[in-house]
Amino acid sequence: MVSRLGSVDIFPPAQDYIYMDAASVGLSHAKGAEVISEWQRALAERGTVAFTEQDEVECLDNLNSAAAKLFNATAQDIAVASSETVLMASLAWAVMPEAGSNIVSTATTHPSTIYPWMRVAEHTGAELRWARANSALTIDPDQLEDLIDDNTSVVCLSQVEWGTGQLFDLKRFADAAHARGAICVVDATQSAGQVPIDVGSTGVDAVATSTYKWLCGPFGTGMMYVSPELQTRSPGIVGWRSHRDMWDFQADRLEYPDSAKRYEFGTMAYGTALGATVAANYLLDLTIERIADHNRTLSARLVEGLRELGAELLGPEEPAQRSATVAARFPGKDVADFTRTLKQADIIASLRRDFIRFSPHLYNSSDDIDQALSAIKAAL
Ligand SMILES: Cc1ncc(COP(=O)(O)O)c(C=O)c1O
Repeated sequence: MVSRLGSVDIFPPAQDYIYMDAASVGLSHAKGAEVISEWQRALAERGTVAFTEQDEVECLDNLNSAAAKLFNATAQDIAVASSETVLMASLAWAVMPEAGSNIVSTATTHPSTIYPWMRVAEHTGAELRWARANSALTIDPDQLEDLIDDNTSVVCLSQVEWGTGQLFDLKRFADAAHARGAICVVDATQSAGQVPIDVGSTGVDAVATSTYKWLCGPFGTGMMYVSPELQTRSPGIVGWRSHRDMWDFQADRLEYPDSAKRYEFGTMAYGTALGATVAANYLLDLTIERIADHNRTLSARLVEGLRELGAELLGPEEPAQRSATVAARFPGKDVADFTRTLKQADIIASLRRDFIRFSPHLYNSSDDIDQALSAIKAAL
């Protein structure tokens, strides 16, 4: 019997649903959501009296610090913006892989992981190299590593694949990239909050994430770690916050901060960063290791139960390459109908192409898994 790690006081919908959809949108930390509403109300009622110019300078700092803890970095190495996509786009233009070089990724990665790099490659003529998945949508890590050669400029991976939950060994790919003079860039939107990320021990050069999935935060906030070397580049996206003194307003020159903050560029829905900070600090207090253990126990139980029911499991079998996300096909079933049937039984998972993706998190218990398996059995 495994109880919830995150209580229903903090995640109220967990008592109404068997919510296994963190890979789509995680349940929000209730206090984090409240802080965002309070901030918005204060702004509506009192404008700059409530949110001063000094507040606007400092309002992202606490999230910088929380992200630093999450990635085992320092706050200097973190930038905050509205999403993973914008941060990755800014980084891709900062790096701008040139013609003759190649960018290595997986064909199963999320579009927002690699489209920014494809757009730059369209401009410069750099080559894209894809590791292809087998019929179970699994990427062979050896085949992925074999794509890296002396012309590789960037190895760009989602630490956890959005569909199957396949987990990549970041140290392996950062080492392989560095051995060829390339950098290793990571999208952690499907991993931050569910598996530990350590930029020091893995040696990755950049990690970007949005906050509304496994970090139990809101839409509208993303954060990115960048290595000291990447803090010397000119970001691809710049605006008034890009200058070292944002209230200086002298438009005829642009001097970047000597930190990752140079990747912060403009106004955003600042209140979301306050809510994301509450949620991230809550997860950090529990520890990501504990959450990862909890989630793995639940997903292993789910995998075993689904196998017994004859489902076709996708992604790798090796536990070291698995995260909490579990994807399955149900041969002979109309998968859209099947997902709807589960939803009617308050079991919330995602329909993706021809499979269903279950993504249990800290607010789930082993009872949830058993109830979901019973409902799936009945529906089958
Ligand atoms: C790996 C990954 N990256 C990025 C995103 C979405 O990016 P953004 O939050 O910037 O829209 C998703 C959403 O599913 C994702 O799975």
